[in-house]
Amino acid sequence: MSEQKRILVTSALPYANGPLHLGHLAGAYLTADFYVRYKRLTGADVAFICGSDEHGVPITIAAEKEGVNPQDIVDRYHEKNKKVFEDFGISFDYYGRTSSRVHHETSQEFFTTLNEKGFFKKKTEQQLYDPKADMFLPDRYVKGTCPNCGFEEAYGDQCENCGTSLSPTELENPVSALTGEKPELKETEHWYMPLGDVQPKFEKWLDTRKNWKPNVMGQVKSWLKDGLADRAATRDLSWGVPVPLPEAKGKVLYVWFDAPIGYVSATKEWALQLGDADAWKKYWQDEQTQLYHFIGKDNIVFHCIMFPVVLMEHGDYVLPENVPANEFLNLEGKKLSTSRGWAVWLHEYLEDFEPDLLRYALGATLPETKDSDFSWKEFQARVNNELAAVLGNFVFRSLSFTSKFADGVVPELVDPAGTDVEALKAIDSQKEKITSSYEAFRFKEAIQESLQLARIGNKYFTETEPWKTRNDNPQACANSLHVSLQICAALSVLMEPILPDAMKTLRSQLGYTGKVDWDSVSDAMLSAGSAIHPGKVLFNKVEDEAIEAQIKRLEERAAVDTPVSDFPALKDNIEFDDFMKLDIRAGKILSAEKIEKSNKLLKLQVDLGIEKRTIVSGIAKHVDIDALKDQKVCVVANLAPKKLMGVESQGMILMAEDSEGNLKFAETEAEPGSTIT
Ligand code: MF3
Ligand code: ZN
Repeated sequence: MSEQKRILVTSALPYANGPLHLGHLAGAYLTADFYVRYKRLTGADVAFICGSDEHGVPITIAAEKEGVNPQDIVDRYHEKNKKVFEDFGISFDYYGRTSSRVHHETSQEFFTTLNEKGFFKKKTEQQLYDPKADMFLPDRYVKGTCPNCGFEEAYGDQCENCGTSLSPTELENPVSALTGEKPELKETEHWYMPLGDVQPKFEKWLDTRKNWKPNVMGQVKSWLKDGLADRAATRDLSWGVPVPLPEAKGKVLYVWFDAPIGYVSATKEWALQLGDADAWKKYWQDEQTQLYHFIGKDNIVFHCIMFPVVLMEHGDYVLPENVPANEFLNLEGKKLSTSRGWAVWLHEYLEDFEPDLLRYALGATLPETKDSDFSWKEFQARVNNELAAVLGNFVFRSLSFTSKFADGVVPELVDPAGTDVEALKAIDSQKEKITSSYEAFRFKEAIQESLQLARIGNKYFTETEPWKTRNDNPQACANSLHVSLQICAALSVLMEPILPDAMKTLRSQLGYTGKVDWDSVSDAMLSAGSAIHPGKVLFNKVEDEAIEAQIKRLEERAAVDTPVSDFPALKDNIEFDDFMKLDIRAGKILSAEKIEKSNKLLKLQVDLGIEKRTIVSGIAKHVDIDALKDQKVCVVANLAPKKLMGVESQGMILMAEDSEGNLKFAETEAEPGSTIT
């Protein structure tokens, strides 16, 4: 094995504000895990670091929605997300969290060092402020129209429609996400990172980066072309890492300043756990280390510009070797949306299928250089036509023939024919292709080249027809089985990064007890005479019903979720005194009749306890007239009388309107005449 450098791999820290879905996995975690597993097999010294991003507006907004503390939210999702990654075999060495003490200290140390070096520019600026909530509105606390694409639901930090990164004051028609109020401008002081000033130095460094994916380098270059702007490293918020300066009371570090430093703090905590407190240093501060950030495309600017600048200005740290960002994953042809219920939750997936199936199917359709689509039908096709029909079938044939016709032991290879030699050679040549795919972060290709070895094996098995040769040429049959089993053994290591569970099973079925590493992949991994232990098939086919159930669940959920947002937005607040002007009474309908020439209006006689009223109500289409007698209702009793279709209406009956526009009585059990307040 050639000399290996030390490797530090990070996956974007997911916000601990909700469960993880397919889009997360496809963005920053699956490819990182493929890469890390591959690198570990090659003998590299790898640290694989991730954790929960527990600060920032996404967390506080989630807490406000539920009416709980931010800490409750992050405690809940930190554990859940950590577990689901484990269940999917994402093999982090350490999963930290940014609310930890080590993280607070580490990010404060970064801030202090940069501040002492004179990096920050202190500026007093006008920022959006919500007088009702009595707070500034950074980032996602404001929504409005994107100045770039006109999308009306853009956030104060980014437009999710066109991807443009924004500052709150750039939004057109901004409204507070907290109160719906139109924000005011108010002065506040912040510490800015003068990215423009360091741009020349940064560009010099960027020029030394080799082999970055075009989608990543393209985005970075376009940021640079526009000229980098100053970015605030602090915020007026109460949740986050306090700015370590006495004059910055009530201010915290900007979440995108502290979160990437989470990679450093998690590495420190890992070292502490290993009992070697300084072990993190060789990963972060030794030039021999290669740092790779795996992320989704919405994180490019932060990982390719902002964080490298912070590391560079700090001075003691390595900068990323590469940032192999993925594009976005769509679902069944539509944009993933958690708020609209258009998502596949990872914990739910695991109730129905094995993790390896998704690792493979998602890996085969990764949005590596452009957006891609996940569909359940394609998932089924990948599992059935590739995993089961090619890989699983090849393994099954090789093992079952060996148990039936070779006494369950690996036969000896004697006088191999040209086809045998060819097939064995494919192990080496495929291994080479797979290796270069991984090295170039081309994971889809790595999967295809891995499966290709199984295809070659399958074809070889069919062509050499061991079921025939076993009668007329037993050695040819033995050779077929020997070669097939060697290919199976090679696959059991070469496909380990993608299918860790299944390949472990395969190795035990093959009776392979040798080393599991890239160097041991050869055409002679199994020795003749060693016993195999066939067991369950590696991959079961996914039935149509199972797929239909998934699609149905997705559609039902999306259907349920949509109308919720069809309720009208809340009206402006009113004063208590305004409310007290209303006189609402319990009443009982005495009789009802249709008003001629109107298909909407009913004329009702209502007993209000103290008196009887005639009320005209537009509910004809929503109620059964014959069932109205004795219906208990709430009546606005002091509404000025009004003539409708020639009849004077002396009040209004309260109705509830559901999301589809159906009207139902707002009923009361109270005795007619009771006041309702
Ligand atoms: N929480 C961020 C997101 O989900 C990612 C943070 S990555 C880190 O978009 F570098 F900041 F940690
Ligand atoms: Zn936009």
